[in-house]
Amino acid sequence: MSEQTAQTLFVSNALLLGRAVDITVSGGRIASVADHDNNAAPAGAEIFDAKGQIVFPSFIDCHVHLREPGFEYKEDVESGLAAAAHGGFGAVLPMANTKPVNDDTSVTELMLERARKSWPHGPRVHPVGAATKGLKGEELAPMGELAAAGCVAFSNDGLPVGGAEMFRRCMEYAADFGKIIIDHCEDPTLARGTHMNEGVTSGRMGVKGQSVVAESVQVARDILLSEYLDIPVHLAHISCRQSVELIAWAKSRGVKVTAETCPHYLLLDDVALEQYSTAAKVNPPLRTPDDVAAMRRAVQDGTIDIMVTDHAPHAAHEKETPLDEAPNGISGLDTAVALSWRLIQEGLFKEEDMIRLWCHAPGGLFRLPVNRFTHGDPADFFLFDPAQEWVVGPETMHSKGKNTPFTGWKLAGKVTSHWMGGHKIV
Ligand code: DOR
Repeated sequence: MSEQTAQTLFVSNALLLGRAVDITVSGGRIASVADHDNNAAPAGAEIFDAKGQIVFPSFIDCHVHLREPGFEYKEDVESGLAAAAHGGFGAVLPMANTKPVNDDTSVTELMLERARKSWPHGPRVHPVGAATKGLKGEELAPMGELAAAGCVAFSNDGLPVGGAEMFRRCMEYAADFGKIIIDHCEDPTLARGTHMNEGVTSGRMGVKGQSVVAESVQVARDILLSEYLDIPVHLAHISCRQSVELIAWAKSRGVKVTAETCPHYLLLDDVALEQYSTAAKVNPPLRTPDDVAAMRRAVQDGTIDIMVTDHAPHAAHEKETPLDEAPNGISGLDTAVALSWRLIQEGLFKEEDMIRLWCHAPGGLFRLPVNRFTHGDPADFFLFDPAQEWVVGPETMHSKGKNTPFTGWKLAGKVTSHWMGGHKIV
C-alpha cells in the first residue's frame, strides 16, 4: 500500500551509475538530478538520506502471471503487485492465461480495477490480451476492443499458437492496432508429455525430456513469418543456443524480431532437477550448461533485448508432487533484482546493462513511460542496498508463490524503498 505523499521530495546522496547525486522530485516528476555536493533541499521538501544506496529507475517486467481472475489461491493482483513493488518493478505485463482468459474486456478491466484499488500509486499493470479466444488457437481474440481497454500486447503465453496460418493472422491483426504479438515458442507436438530438458540428465533420471528443437523450430517459423510479412514479433522466455543463433541470424538480416529471457536461464541448468526438484520445473525447461553459456553471450551481445521474470507462482501443494505431476513455473518477482545483481558480480552485466534490459528496452518495446532521470520524467525509482545479504526463502517473498529453485541461495542486495510518481510505495 502507498505510505505517504510529499509535494517535494529530496533524495540525497544516492548512487546513480556510480555517481553520488541528489534527486529533487516535484509534482510526481524528476525536477533535477545534481552531483551530491551539499545541495540545499528545497524549502518544505521531505528529505531522504540514501547514503551508500544505489538508485535505479523502476523496472518493467514484460512477462508475469498474476493469476487473477481464477487462480487467486496461487496469486492475486494485490499480492503480485506487492512482490513487484518490493522487487523494484514499477510496471508489470500480466499474461492472459487466467480463468476466464483475458480475451474479453471485462477481464482486462477487472485486472486494472484490482490494481487501482490495491496499489493506487503503482506498480502499474499493463495487461497482455489473448491472441486467440480461450487461448485455443482457433479464432482471433477481439484485439481492437482489448487494446482500447488497456491491453498493450497480445499472446497465448502458457500455450503456443500451434498453427502457422493462425499465427500469421494473429500477427497481421495485432499490427492493425499497432500492437505486437509475444509468442510462447513451443512446437506442441514435440513438447507433448515432457517435464524437463531432453539430454543426459533426463536420460539418467528416466524422465521424458523436451528437445531444444521444440522451441527453436517455432522460433524459426516466427522469424520467417516476421520477415515475410514485415511485421514485428517478440519471442518469449528464450532458453537455448539454437534459438539465440537463429535470432542473431534474423537480426543480421534486419528482421523485426525481439527476444526476452529470464534470470533462471542464465543461472541454472537442468542439473537443478536432478533430485526431481519440482521448484526447478519450468517451461521452457532449464537447459544444459552449453545453452546457459550461449544465453549469457546473447544477453551480452544484444541478441536478447530484454529481461523478464516469467513470474509463475503456484501453490505449495501443487509443487509438492512427483515431477511429472507438478505444474511448470518459477515465482520470480521477489528475486529478480538480486539475481541480476549477482550477474553483475559475476561480470555478465554492468549497472547500465541492468537498466537497459529491465527498464529502457522494455519501455521502448511496449511504449511505456520510463524514468531516465532527466527533468520531467516520471519520478519512478527505487533504492537498492548492495551491502544487505539475505537468503532466499518463503519468508523473504511477498508473492503467494514460494516456488523458486533459488531457495537457500545467499544473495546480495535488497530493495529498501520505492517511489512511484513521488509516492513512497515501499
Ligand atoms: O513455466 C511456465 N509457467 N511457463 C509458461 O509458459 C506458463 C507459466 C504458467 O502460467 O505457470
